Order: sequence, then C-alpha cells, then structure tokens
Amino acid sequence: MVPGIDFSGLVQSSNHRDFKPGDRVVLNGWGVGEQHWGGLGQKAKVRGDWLVHLPAPITSRQAMMIGTAGYTAMLSVMALERYGITPGNGDVLVTGANGGVGSIAIMLLKKLGYRVIAATGRLNETSHLEKLGAAEIIDRALLSQPGKPLQRERWAAAIDSVGSYTLANVCAATKADGAVAACGMAQGLDFPASVASFILRGVALLGINSVTRPKSQRIEAWAASRRFSLNRSWRSRPRPSI
Ligand SMILES: NC(=O)c1ccc[n+]([C@@H]2O[C@H](COP(=O)([O-])OP(=O)(O)OC[C@H]3O[C@@H](n4cnc5c(N)ncnc54)[C@H](OP(=O)(O)O)[C@@H]3O)[C@@H](O)[C@H]2O)c1
Repeated sequence: MVPGIDFSGLVQSSNHRDFKPGDRVVLNGWGVGEQHWGGLGQKAKVRGDWLVHLPAPITSRQAMMIGTAGYTAMLSVMALERYGITPGNGDVLVTGANGGVGSIAIMLLKKLGYRVIAATGRLNETSHLEKLGAAEIIDRALLSQPGKPLQRERWAAAIDSVGSYTLANVCAATKADGAVAACGMAQGLDFPASVASFILRGVALLGINSVTRPKSQRIEAWAASRRFSLNRSWRSRPRPSI
C-alpha cells in the first residue's frame, strides 16, 4: 500500500475525455492513500473523474503546500459563505489555529475581510497567528472542558477542526443564526453537546467532508485558492502534519 491522501503532477497518459498528457492536475481524497494506492510515489494511476485541473498560476509544489488541509479550510469557508455568513455578521472563530486546517483558514478569512479569533494551545505562537491574520487569540483550554449548553454569544461563525467538548462549546457561544463548519476531530470524535444552540438560537452545524466532495465544489475551491497568495509567515514554517 502506498500512503498519501493527495497528490499533484502532470498527466502522463489518459483515456478520460477531460484529460490529456501534460495536463497539470491535483487530487484530494476519494480514498486515495486509504483504499487505493496514494500520492507518496512518483506515479499514480487513478480514475480521471477524481482529478481536478490545477488552475494557473498554482504550481504542483504550491498545491501540495496548500494540501488537503488548505483545501479543507477553503471548503469550510465556502460552506459558511454559502450559508450566508458575511464579515458584517461578526467575528469568526478558528479552532486548532496552529494546525494545517486552522492556519490556512485564518489566512483565507482575513483576506475575505473577516475579523478572526484564533483558539490555540500554543499561546507562544501568538505573533505568528497575528501575522497570519488573527485579530484575537484565546487559550483553547477555555473551550476544551464541559461547558454550559448556552453561553454568551461571542462569534457569528466558526471553523472547527477539533471536535469533542471544543465543538460543543463553540456551538454554545455562536450568535443566533450563525453557523459552525465542523471538519476535524483533533480533540475527539465525540460531540458531547446539547441541542440548545440549534433550536433556541438557530445555529447551523455544517459538516465538511473533503474526501467525497462533488467535482464542482473541488473546482470551485481550487479556483478560489488562486486568489490567495500564501502568507509569508505560513510559508516559512515547516509543513504541518495531517
Ligand atoms: N473533514 C475533512 O475532510 C478533513 C480534511 C483534513 C483534515 N481533517 C481533520 O481536521 C483535523 C485537523 O487537521 P490538521 O491537518 O489541521 O491537523 P494538525 O495540523 O495536526 O492540527 C490540529 C490542531 O488541533 C489542535 N489540537 C490538537 N490536539 C488538540 C486537543 N486535544 N484539544 C484541542 N485542540 C487540539 C492543535 O492546534 P493548536 O496547537 O493551535 O492548539 C493542532 O495544531 C484533524 O482531525 C484531521 O483529521 C478533516
């Protein structure tokens, strides 16, 4: 088994109508590196339907710096915007802020004009998070323990890559009619929450699964990422683990 949940490169040969030799492509998910041989090899043979044309000027190297973490961050931002969240609604919280998904989510949201609150366990990285675009940093310990089902409304939306009690507290402190994009489980797969924020405040919980997104959303996400040059502070750091 070859691992690697994503890859980018040039098509060598294809009998798919959309691809020809020399096309630059990217693949995320579809079970590649899990049920199918993955991207950590010089060559891969996959279904053409799983591939997306890499939009210029993104290079394969940049696509892999963005990676599935950055692609998932973009899907999460897209989900919030599709729901109707705008910068005018209020702050957006990003949990797991120093992680792969979190750090790119901060950059994307900042560039789209949002005021971003970053929750992290690494408060020593505050200046790095501020350079990425966070306006306020909070200690993740404030969110990681059992909390009240309804809390003071603090953010209009959130991107959560942590799950468990953190996600429960994030929902409980989301403003009325806000939305939370849940994409990760760094703290845990469980969701020990109450329905109070959903039925009393109309908060929406938006699940993000990057693995099986329809092709149209993949194309939209990669096309959108073209607009964002990677922040120098993020580029200079080692690639986060996934
Ligand atoms: N839905 C999807 O399709 C999809 C796609 C990609 C990734 N994911 C999932 O998203 C999550 C994040 O991925 P990633 O690539 O960003 O991982 P990562 O680089 O390892 O970052 C995870 C971050 O979560 C925080 N964290 C770790 N353990 C924690 C804990 N016990 N309690 C609270 N916070 C904790 C840390 O941030 P701080 O140091 O800032 O506290 C860490 O940097 C993972 O669970 C991954 O499996 C899902």
